[in-house]
Amino acid sequence: MTAPASRKAKRRPGALISLLKVKGDERTPIFLRLYRQLRAAIVQGHLKEGARLPGTRSLAHELGVARVSVESAYGRLEQEGLVRRRSGSGTFVSFGAPSASSPGRLKPQLAALRLSRRGAAIFAGGGCLDHPGVRPFGAGRPDLRAFPTALWNKTLSAAAKGDAVDLLDYGSRAGLARLREAVAAYLVTYRGVQCVADQVLILTSSQQALDLAARVLLDPGDVVAVEDPGYRGAATAFAAAGANLHSIDVDADGMVVGGLAASPSAPRLVYVTPSHQFPLGSTLSRQRRTALLAWADAADAYVIEDDYDGDFRYHGDAVPALQGMDRQGRVLYVGTFSKTMFPSIRLAYLVLPPPLVEPFTVARSVVDGHTSQLFQAAMASFMIDGHFAAHMRNMRSLYSARLAVLQEEVSARLRGYVTLLDASCGLQAAALVDEPQRFETVHAGATAAGLHLPRLDELYLRRPLGLQNGWILGFAALAPTEIRAGVHALRSAFQ
Ligand SMILES: Cc1ncc(COP(=O)(O)O)c(C=O)c1O
Repeated sequence: MTAPASRKAKRRPGALISLLKVKGDERTPIFLRLYRQLRAAIVQGHLKEGARLPGTRSLAHELGVARVSVESAYGRLEQEGLVRRRSGSGTFVSFGAPSASSPGRLKPQLAALRLSRRGAAIFAGGGCLDHPGVRPFGAGRPDLRAFPTALWNKTLSAAAKGDAVDLLDYGSRAGLARLREAVAAYLVTYRGVQCVADQVLILTSSQQALDLAARVLLDPGDVVAVEDPGYRGAATAFAAAGANLHSIDVDADGMVVGGLAASPSAPRLVYVTPSHQFPLGSTLSRQRRTALLAWADAADAYVIEDDYDGDFRYHGDAVPALQGMDRQGRVLYVGTFSKTMFPSIRLAYLVLPPPLVEPFTVARSVVDGHTSQLFQAAMASFMIDGHFAAHMRNMRSLYSARLAVLQEEVSARLRGYVTLLDASCGLQAAALVDEPQRFETVHAGATAAGLHLPRLDELYLRRPLGLQNGWILGFAALAPTEIRAGVHALRSAFQ
């Protein structure tokens, strides 16, 4: 099914090429510049559904760039479902194509859709994308095969039997009281958070907490300071609210807090991952924690602490939450059960300074009311009965052993190719490629060999000059044999 416009595009690939500019911001990788331009051309309707994109070789030749850059750009468009690649026949724009299963799917032209400016910006930003399935070295994933499914199923079914009728009804918009209490007790004991149950809001995900914070605390044009490199889910949520992002560098002591003073207008909000910087893995030093809290107080700003995997610390002293040091009610603490339990549980928590509890609870009711009562009740029992603490102990020791395997394998087989950054926490470790000029070729080869390697350069808002590129390597979800096979495949891509 080919629209007339796509026949036109097929006849004139030069029309597309003339749209693409690879010159420009040298700090953005070429593949990313290409991807963004192609994406914009597709979502804005310049490239119509069914249109055939030029072959990677000829486009690379026309533009004077490496073929791997075009490959990577096309690969990313494919992951988002914007193009379909058929071996032997080429790459076709598939966005908005009506199919038998979705005959009424909307066409992509933004004007025709009449989206709001906010809706169009969210759409063009591409949203958030999580990759299901385990492949070396997908990052941020717990081992679902090691999850105590039978015990969880028993807990779930006991919860359903126990309070069946109440749990079928609407529930509290702040969350089930006994889960709020269990979460508060856990956070006080294990994460050094200072809170009572009334400050805890039970949410669907950290992403929802970030979106909610953006709705409640930001006006369009407000400045939000974010770590750079950093978590795209956070940047996406703030940008969707119309905020301007101010990027703050990261080093071995975490966010360079001194950079906050350099913002052209004072940030209203700071997003930080103090326990385990995403993606580089450093811990925010004590000195910087003190400086950040003092800055927030003086600037009348809030700090979002995303403690997404701080529960998994393998070596060294415990690192309590930044929130525990906050005496002025500046820190909003975000945690999730996506990593400690499983991603589809869709349960997370937000610990708020007391004055923010009501505004956030009301705003939350506008978004989705509340999360499943049954799952909240089961999660509460799982915690109260001690299963959660036991599960965490088991997973900590399992993942710690896997981190050791990754470290051994990298030092034995990837010496001279890759340097693993210090890893003492979390589900993944950052790895830098020792010879940056080889990065693109190795990345393309390893991806073609079936590895899933989340790139560090994609996590930068402002790519530093001379960036030593690399990946984040997830290890927690992989059995030692899978880690070894993954490292072997990566080594082959280098050789
Ligand atoms: C820094 C960071 N925050 C939050 C999350 C996601 O948590 P949730 O599934 O609760 O949105 C992730 C997932 O990888 C993450 O890396």
